[in-house]
Amino acid sequence: MSEKLRNIIEDIAQDYLQSALTLRYDICTCAVCKNDMLAYILSHVPAKYVTTQEGAMHTIIQQTRVEHQAQIARAILQAIELVGNNPRHQIKEDKNKTFALLLDKIREDRSLDFRHYHQDLLRRRVAVRIRTLKLATYADYLRYLINHPEEYDKLFEVLCINVSEFFRDPEVWVAVKRVLEEMIRAKKKENSHSLKIWSAGCASGEEAHTIAIILRELLGPGMSDFQIQIHATDVDKKVMDAAGKGVYGKESLKNVDKKLLEKYFAGKDGSWTVSAEIHNLITVAYLDLTSTELIENADIVFCRNVFIYFDRNLQEQILMKFYQSLKPEGYLVMGKSESMIRDVKSIFQEIDFDSRLYKKIPSP
Ligand SMILES: C[S@@+](CC[C@H](N)C(=O)[O-])C[C@H]1O[C@@H](n2cnc3c(N)ncnc32)[C@H](O)[C@@H]1O
Repeated sequence: MSEKLRNIIEDIAQDYLQSALTLRYDICTCAVCKNDMLAYILSHVPAKYVTTQEGAMHTIIQQTRVEHQAQIARAILQAIELVGNNPRHQIKEDKNKTFALLLDKIREDRSLDFRHYHQDLLRRRVAVRIRTLKLATYADYLRYLINHPEEYDKLFEVLCINVSEFFRDPEVWVAVKRVLEEMIRAKKKENSHSLKIWSAGCASGEEAHTIAIILRELLGPGMSDFQIQIHATDVDKKVMDAAGKGVYGKESLKNVDKKLLEKYFAGKDGSWTVSAEIHNLITVAYLDLTSTELIENADIVFCRNVFIYFDRNLQEQILMKFYQSLKPEGYLVMGKSESMIRDVKSIFQEIDFDSRLYKKIPSP
């Protein structure tokens, strides 16, 4: 193949490969792997180009792009499967072993135990950091972490995806509001005026503030008669800081009704600050759900969009923790895409499946 023609095809292949790899961020893209993939693709480019005479270069470019893009794209997918899934690094690195070492190191340094998180999910996330730093293996990354402890902040940013928003899944809050209303009525009847709520895995606090707003709406000025505690806990210090500040951007407020926005927030387009009356109901604290710590005597536990990280055993363990945390008549709210583990179903009664709302079944 002439040098010029090879360059053209290589350019096209590079283009395609680049965009294909943005979708496969779990694949190593170090120079060695990329070259291996390119070599594979080039060796699968239609044979006629090998013998094509140089000359009408323009036509060749057009033809290569139009006629053979499907073939090149197919070769890229194959290259990713073959080379990407079995990179030459594997010969040098026992991935399972070095990944386990990496998790040990995190546990040792930061007391965060990721061993029972979904491993595939973690590996894909760690791969994002490895690629950004232009490293190739978990062993490289482990060495990097040892020499650059500040990398932990970046690592936790990718490991703990902490997107949240006010009134996330609005229909859930309709069901939650009903339960809170009922609970307040029962408390007033019993002459009990305290309410304890735990937002576990609170991220930047949107969920905890949503609960506070709903309670304020339900109780009106009578709220001062109640002692309300909303415990917002997480392990990611960066987002916890944000929760402690109570300042939010437009994106996380998109589900907030205009009237509520005017009533409980101050600010304009860029950033909105939650009113002190709402914000003061919330206590933000570090609490690792994989540890033995818990919030005692909770009336409701919210743990939404957190279980996706954990394997089944850990989920079960944490559900038992919530059971222990809740008062006998307490409620649990899980995320819309999460479901109650079968073995634990006997201790939580399903109240509303669509809203993932459960009630503790007290032990006899
Ligand atoms: C997607 S956010 C969920 C935020 C909020 N609950 C919601 O549904 O909008 C998941 C949060 O779980 C937190 N998380 C992950 N592992 C945790 C652990 N072991 N203990 C406590 N929080 C954890 C993450 O730091 C992240 O802030």
